[in-house]
Amino acid sequence: MEKLVIQGRTRLEGEVTISGAKNAAVALIPATLLIKGVCTLENLPNISDVQIQCEILKDLGATVEWLDPNTARIDTTNITSHKAPLDKTSKFRASYYLIGALLSRCHNVEVGLPGGCNLGARPIDQHVKGFEALGATVDVATGKVVAHADELVGASIYMDTVSVGATINIMLASVFAKGTTTIDNAAKEPHIVDVANFLNSIGADIRGAGTDIIKINGVEKLKSNSTYSVVPDQIEAGTFMLAAMATQGDIVLKNCISEHLDCLTAKIIEMGGKVIESGDEIRVTCDKRPKKTNIKTAPYPGFPTDLQAQMGVVLALAEGTSVISENIWESRFQYTYELIKMGAKITSQGKTAFFEGVESLSGAPVSATDLRAGAALIVAGIAAEGTTELYNLQHIDRGYENIEEKFRKLGANIIRIRE
Ligand code: UD1
Repeated sequence: MEKLVIQGRTRLEGEVTISGAKNAAVALIPATLLIKGVCTLENLPNISDVQIQCEILKDLGATVEWLDPNTARIDTTNITSHKAPLDKTSKFRASYYLIGALLSRCHNVEVGLPGGCNLGARPIDQHVKGFEALGATVDVATGKVVAHADELVGASIYMDTVSVGATINIMLASVFAKGTTTIDNAAKEPHIVDVANFLNSIGADIRGAGTDIIKINGVEKLKSNSTYSVVPDQIEAGTFMLAAMATQGDIVLKNCISEHLDCLTAKIIEMGGKVIESGDEIRVTCDKRPKKTNIKTAPYPGFPTDLQAQMGVVLALAEGTSVISENIWESRFQYTYELIKMGAKITSQGKTAFFEGVESLSGAPVSATDLRAGAALIVAGIAAEGTTELYNLQHIDRGYENIEEKFRKLGANIIRIRE
């Protein structure tokens, strides 16, 4: 078992380079199944979700060659199977993209149910609704998703819930569908635009990604060769911006897109921090205790649920009482119980948590309850007095590349120990 040992309290200062977006990468890798050829994906984050997604592609018959730790050359010319087993798909949520991609490529799919962080119920009814509207039969009764389509035909699909996964999955399934597919009430996250950009760069005809309505005009074939670079990770960037606030530090983030973080920037300014944007850099400084604020998580461009826990750490240390309303995932306050072990004063009820800010936290043994909670607890440990031991690191390794090294370069005293 591995643990992180963090010695606080440290003011973080310096520069950090943001990696490619996990949530884009895990969709782009299965998207390469749509071409019968070779894609070189650059700026892939070196994280376990990406590695597993590549392993699954290899099981399907693709070859994956790593040109360096962040660049993979994926050859999907010879796909020999349409089955992805549960032992791999259950390790992460984004295995659901194999359904849309394999439906497009093979018209047949057998994929173990997706896993991932335990954030409460994680239905896929909107994905299924979309595939069925395109003409597929879908069976999810047997612990796996089995889908088949004689042919895929464009359709008008209204999403009852704004869903990132369903929006991308329907895009993937409809690239070759006859006629036009319309996704109404689509999600607008930057990685949806990134996947659409990638698909368009290889010959798909997708319009409106990044708005509520996406139209996909079916095409007959795609280019058989391409190179694409993954968009920077706005959640990783947001994690470091909030780390600057929690430690009253001064951090320059390199390789990020500031527009993707507008809602967080607004909140940081509201809390008394300073944000300076210049090209692909963002500098966040905070020279006094942050002020309270209230947060309501919402689909993009609202405040991301994936930054809720990191913001929770800042609010646990802020002046005054703040309120967070979590509107996407029902079990996303599990980290608050770990923060309470570190001296935070937090009460939660249903979708709402109240943070009565304290002047300092104290190090304690804590456990990463999910991916973003893990990152938040690292930040808490750096900001806290004394020693924090953080367990359950497999969650963090799913989504953050070299996280302790990046924090160490900013001055944190943090080491990984194998017990
Ligand atoms: C993606 C992100 C995840 C992020 C989440 C919300 C990836 C790989 N993961 O997850 O990090 O926390 O977006 O920004 O990109 N829903 C349904 N039916 C469905 C699908 C979703 O009711 O068929 C509901 C969910 O329960 C949730 C909401 O819609 O309440 C949003 O889920 P969705 O956007 O689909 O999240 P994911 O794609 O799983």
